[in-house]
Amino acid sequence: MAMVTSSEMFRKAYEGGYAIGAFNVNNMEIIQGITEAAGELNAPLILQVSSGARKYAKHVYLMKLIEAAVADTGLDIVVHLDHGADFDICKSCVDGGFTSVMIDGSHLSFEENIAVTKRVVDYAHDKGVVVEGELGRLAGVEDEVNVSAENSAYTDPNQVEEFVKSTGVDSLAIAIGTSHGAYKFKPGTKPQLRFDILKEVAVRLPGFPIVLHGASSVIPKYVAMVNANGGQMPDAIGVPEDMLREAATLAVCKINIDSDLRLAMTGTIREYFNQHPDHFDPRQYLTPARDNIRELVKHKITNVLGSAGKA
Ligand code: G3H
Ligand code: 13P
Ligand code: ZN
Repeated sequence: MAMVTSSEMFRKAYEGGYAIGAFNVNNMEIIQGITEAAGELNAPLILQVSSGARKYAKHVYLMKLIEAAVADTGLDIVVHLDHGADFDICKSCVDGGFTSVMIDGSHLSFEENIAVTKRVVDYAHDKGVVVEGELGRLAGVEDEVNVSAENSAYTDPNQVEEFVKSTGVDSLAIAIGTSHGAYKFKPGTKPQLRFDILKEVAVRLPGFPIVLHGASSVIPKYVAMVNANGGQMPDAIGVPEDMLREAATLAVCKINIDSDLRLAMTGTIREYFNQHPDHFDPRQYLTPARDNIRELVKHKITNVLGSAGKA
């Protein structure tokens, strides 16, 4: 049991037709809920940290909490930087013990994206750390970057071979119609993903691990829980689970989930306070929140990722 890179996990996931869950972490209860679920189901696991999470909780706290989770569960866990915006943050995470970093140059020109990604790969590989790059732009909000639906762009399969060859990147995030946050598809429309692009990318990059961002399903049960307890979320629509399952049987080896965790946690805490308006001990409302994160992650591992028993 250790903090490991994703190389072996992705190789097995590709061959086995399943995907590894990459869950965003921000505090102890979220880390415990996720890792206990993966531990119970013996599932391989990626914990990912955004720059916002690093600012909120501090790098050292998150590292020590994940170290504790490795010891507690006996699992090998990948510690990954989510959406690294530039070389400096990637370097800081490599130097600080992460086993994997994402350099997100998706907003740059193709040439600039290659240049910054290659610079990160050269640095990271030298220290035994793996790198995820991105081609194509997802709509939605991540940290300070807010990409409107009009400015989003599907990945062009014609670019993927050159990108991977020129950068030496270990995995590639592509844009096929998912987006960040809770509002992924227009209410009243049928969610659709460009599986044709995913399949074409897989033909161009045989055996190469593909990453799907913006992959929360925005589980209606938790949106309803938020709204039944004073929340006012408009129609929130995520990626249907059967589509994620299909993507996992194809080249997608890493599926990123954050919004579903946020909804489960917030819905549970709202419900708790509605039922116990006089309580004020954080342990009382964080216990059911952590329980529901554990149940949510078990559901994902079993019904969406197909990664149970693969650790
Ligand atoms: O892709 C974005 C992730 O959900 C992280 O969100 O940047 O608000 O921590 P954050
Ligand atoms: P969601 O907002 O769909 O959970 O996506 C999370 C993500 O892609 C993190 O990088
Ligand atoms: Zn993302």
